[in-house]
Amino acid sequence: MRTSTPSSAAAPAETTQKDNATMTSLAHDLHSLSFRLRANLSAWHEHKGTNRRISRYSLHLTARRLRLPEWRFSHSMQAVTGLIAHHLSETLPSSLTGLSSSWAEGGDSSSGGGANGNDGLQGAGAKTPLQRILSDVGRELLNRVNESLATFEQDYDNVRGDMYPMPWDMAPIHRQNNPLFMLARTAQSVEEFVATLRRRVRGQAQPVWLSSSLYPQYYTKTYHYQTDGWLSDRSARIYEHNTEVLFLGRQDAMQRTSLLPIASYMREAALAGRSPRDMKLLEVAAGTGRFHTFIKDAYPEMPSVVSDLSPFYLARARNNLNYWRALRQPGRRLGGVDDTGVTRFLQTAAEQIDGPDQEYDLVVCVYLFHELPEAIRRRAATEFFRVLKPGGMVVLTDSVQLGDRPSWDKSIGLFGDFNEPYYRNYVSCDLGAIFEEVGFMCDTKYLCSATKTLSFRKPLE
Ligand SMILES: C[S@@+](CC[C@H](N)C(=O)[O-])C[C@H]1O[C@@H](n2cnc3c(N)ncnc32)[C@H](O)[C@@H]1O
Repeated sequence: MRTSTPSSAAAPAETTQKDNATMTSLAHDLHSLSFRLRANLSAWHEHKGTNRRISRYSLHLTARRLRLPEWRFSHSMQAVTGLIAHHLSETLPSSLTGLSSSWAEGGDSSSGGGANGNDGLQGAGAKTPLQRILSDVGRELLNRVNESLATFEQDYDNVRGDMYPMPWDMAPIHRQNNPLFMLARTAQSVEEFVATLRRRVRGQAQPVWLSSSLYPQYYTKTYHYQTDGWLSDRSARIYEHNTEVLFLGRQDAMQRTSLLPIASYMREAALAGRSPRDMKLLEVAAGTGRFHTFIKDAYPEMPSVVSDLSPFYLARARNNLNYWRALRQPGRRLGGVDDTGVTRFLQTAAEQIDGPDQEYDLVVCVYLFHELPEAIRRRAATEFFRVLKPGGMVVLTDSVQLGDRPSWDKSIGLFGDFNEPYYRNYVSCDLGAIFEEVGFMCDTKYLCSATKTLSFRKPLE
């Protein structure tokens, strides 16, 4: 049975106060909702006939004024599945232990079952295990919804600040808003979630089916207990949906933070008379290339290379880029983007990039470093330095680390339990020192929810 300590007993009271404050603020928002709705609907009506893009913008603005996230079907589905999946995987095993021990003691819930760390804090006997689970869900729901709202607002502020365009995929005609498309993805995700959960409970990852000297040993681990690791079409097909579920629909918004240092770089380049057309960007470990479509949408005339070690993920990236083109090229349904920058696909390792020295102006790398052993992180940074032109920039986006969000420090390492063997080392790794050692200068740092973006500059010779 757990016992509470005076210091830990303060936590639920604080949480309740915070929840009350959130509820009050939500109530306030709801109160003014009907007024705002009418104002925004008439604004929406005015825009409707004039320009489709303005209309979409207005819709997003409306959502933001109402302090709601973009209520896309896909986001809602991802958010709900994510919440349930995450909650179950985090708390179900301990909750079941709590329930069974309560029943074993003749249903005496006052014995406290240990459903979670707060059990003893609520006052022993005050709640049944089921009530505890429900209150847990409520608290988690509020925290996570608040986190997502803050992320969407930050994303939207960047759009308004002209740091990057409105996300092109928010158009209602995007396939991700098609219920059939989303249902198919959701069904595949649920199937994968069950398989993953089973492996996680057993603590047994599935060995990867393919061996090749192309792939380093650390690469053939099945990260997150996912089926086939990085090496199948099935894995690539469900990756985006599953990660959006994991992050409650905010992954794209977090990744778009990577566009901030790129925007600053482009502005400086413009002052020096250079245009994106004269530059070249490499995205390393681009996965399914979803984020690359946002880079392309912001700088369509810039030549780029999408690279990854997995041919399956690269094939998916090509599909994503083709879909972006199919909607965004002049004359197409969302039209208007001058897609003259050629994009190529390259199967290569971050730590041994296939290509000449000083080829690129920008190297972008998202969500890779936490999956690499420390020595490989150093080799990758050295390669980024080699392939960049003098004056070039690396944009590195990955998980937050210890100290970035101090209130998360105690639990941040838990993600390592998702068969992420290098994650715990990653959260305490000094990334600035690694990049400085190979010759870079530290540049900017941005935080967005669970993600941070760092940029590093290669000095001019
Ligand atoms: C977590 S995913 C991130 C994908 C993408 N950047 C995103 O944010 O959605 C990691 C990706 O890194 C690739 N990868 C892992 N190790 C790599 C390495 N050493 N070199 C190149 N790619 C690697 C995997 O194939 C996978 O596509």
